Amino acid sequence: MILAKNLTKRFGDRTVVDHINFDIPQGQVVGFLGPNGAGKTTTMRLLTAYLPADEGQAELAGLNVFNQPLAVRRRLGYLPEDNPLWEDLELTEALHFAGRLRGLTDDASRAARVRAVVKSCGLRREIGTKVGELSKGFRQRLGLAAAIIHDPEILILDEPTSGLDPNQVLEVRDLIYELRTHKTVLISTHILPEVTATCDRVIIINAGKIVADGTPADLAGDMADKNRLHVELKGPKDDIRRALAGLPGASQIVADEIEGSFIVESAAGADLREGVFRLAAHNDWPILSLRQERLSLEEIFRALTQNP
Ligand SMILES: Nc1ncnc2c1ncn2[C@@H]1O[C@H](COP(=O)(O)OP(=O)(O)OP(=O)(O)O)[C@@H](O)[C@H]1O
Ligand SMILES: [Mg+2]
Repeated sequence: MILAKNLTKRFGDRTVVDHINFDIPQGQVVGFLGPNGAGKTTTMRLLTAYLPADEGQAELAGLNVFNQPLAVRRRLGYLPEDNPLWEDLELTEALHFAGRLRGLTDDASRAARVRAVVKSCGLRREIGTKVGELSKGFRQRLGLAAAIIHDPEILILDEPTSGLDPNQVLEVRDLIYELRTHKTVLISTHILPEVTATCDRVIIINAGKIVADGTPADLAGDMADKNRLHVELKGPKDDIRRALAGLPGASQIVADEIEGSFIVESAAGADLREGVFRLAAHNDWPILSLRQERLSLEEIFRALTQNP
């Protein structure tokens, strides 16, 4: 649904988006991460036909973004980073205006859509308020409401939760979560727990280049230098330690005094959980806990984007 092929953008002699490639299938929610200045906003502007590319291709819903920008925009909801809004309009007027811009010419059906997005974006209590007088969080919600007014199948959201309080972050997260069933979403953010909670996939960009692309779990597995499995079995500790050490693939057994469990280390990418289960079943040692240690998204992000 969202395709970038060798997409490249230069400003002067600086390449800020550098031959990036990805293909996002229908229904996927993708977190787009990267440090300040990495090229997220620029990539989104290229994908939404707000900026011409210097090289490469972009397609949305099979349409060429650069040749068919108008057709693309009908299928697309875009929340830009600066979220420009019409300061003098009242909230529902602004949504009607956004709807007309998006081709909702029929008054009755447009009014129905305005009601729907007012409800889904939690804007009811601000009806009657001028856009210029909204708080930052409500302004952000209005931007989101305007972006989805025409019920587009693709959403490209540039930091939709920036500047929101923690309650609002959760509400916007829930809203995106609700949309995910029928939409394809690319969302940039600096709030990493939000990504872990809502995204099927993470693309990390650094200095214009994609440095990681996969599920958060895959990235954690790819980047770990070894695999660590926390195992707590009920039974004689010495026997358990010996049995764990005999697991095919286990390289080292470390006792975790605090948790009362053992940490079984193995080569990166190995998965010894099934072996532990069989061993526990064979010896009749109940499994009290079994946990694969994973790098957090924060750790992955830092490792990939910290420039020396
Ligand atoms: N119109 C422009 N002219 C010149 N340089 C630009 C322009 N727009 C962006 N840049 C540069 O391109 C680089 C990427 O900027 P971009 O806004 O895409 O980063 P970002 O990943 O969205 O960062 P942030 O997390 O701060 O929003 C930056 O170095 C920026 O200064
Ligand atoms: Mg940006």
